[in-house]
Amino acid sequence: MRRPLFAGNWKMYKTLPEGLALVRGLKTALKGNDRGDVVVCPPAPLLAPLAEELKGSGIALGAQNLYFEDEGAFTGEWSCAMLKSVGATYVIIGHSERRSIFGETDGMVQKKTAKALKAGLIPIMCVGETLKEREEGETFAVLLRHVRAGLAGIPENLAAKVVIAYEPVWAIGTGKTATPAQGQEAHAFIRKEVARLYGEDLAHAMRILYGGSVKPGNVKDLVAQSDIDGALVGGASLKVEDFAAIARGGA
Ligand code: 13P
Repeated sequence: MRRPLFAGNWKMYKTLPEGLALVRGLKTALKGNDRGDVVVCPPAPLLAPLAEELKGSGIALGAQNLYFEDEGAFTGEWSCAMLKSVGATYVIIGHSERRSIFGETDGMVQKKTAKALKAGLIPIMCVGETLKEREEGETFAVLLRHVRAGLAGIPENLAAKVVIAYEPVWAIGTGKTATPAQGQEAHAFIRKEVARLYGEDLAHAMRILYGGSVKPGNVKDLVAQSDIDGALVGGASLKVEDFAAIARGGA
């Protein structure tokens, strides 16, 4: 059985006082919750102080990005070692906003994923098609490209640690969620490709999260699908009640 994972991607929201208030609220609201693993991914400047606040809470901490070099003259970037040193254990990689706004390529996503794995961080590698790609019947071709390119050259022992997030770009921040059937179809397709690359056992154990307008009211039907193993949540992860309800498995 795959243990569900509920990850909150705060994107570029929350100052330090606001972030502290949010995690304090979550700690209280999720005490004793055993529906799945929970991780919050705040903006990088909040990682260290939030790690302190989250100690012993069972809520893990993740970053939203990393750079694939060990160190050097890379202004504005940060390394895996830096993330680990402030208590991050997960890192989101290849989010569609990174791809579309900051020009991240499939090749960069692969390098970042490989680097995170080597450093012992758990990558949440994002894949998913745009509305145009879906309308043009390209969804599965895009998913194949994202999965194959992102995992290229990554050996089985490391690939086993990867979490994939299927985030159809047209469902992000739009209030339009993929139907549970659309989600299941994409997730099953992704798992099949992982099985082709690494074998059935690894594919069966891999967690594949759904992301895109996940709310307390729709998460239950999504995670009831056999290949949907949790959620990567944007907007609804910014409110204690909403994210806590999602991490409890939904209304
Ligand atoms: P929303 O939940 O706000 O649609 O964002 C989804 C997302 O991009 C999570 O990474």
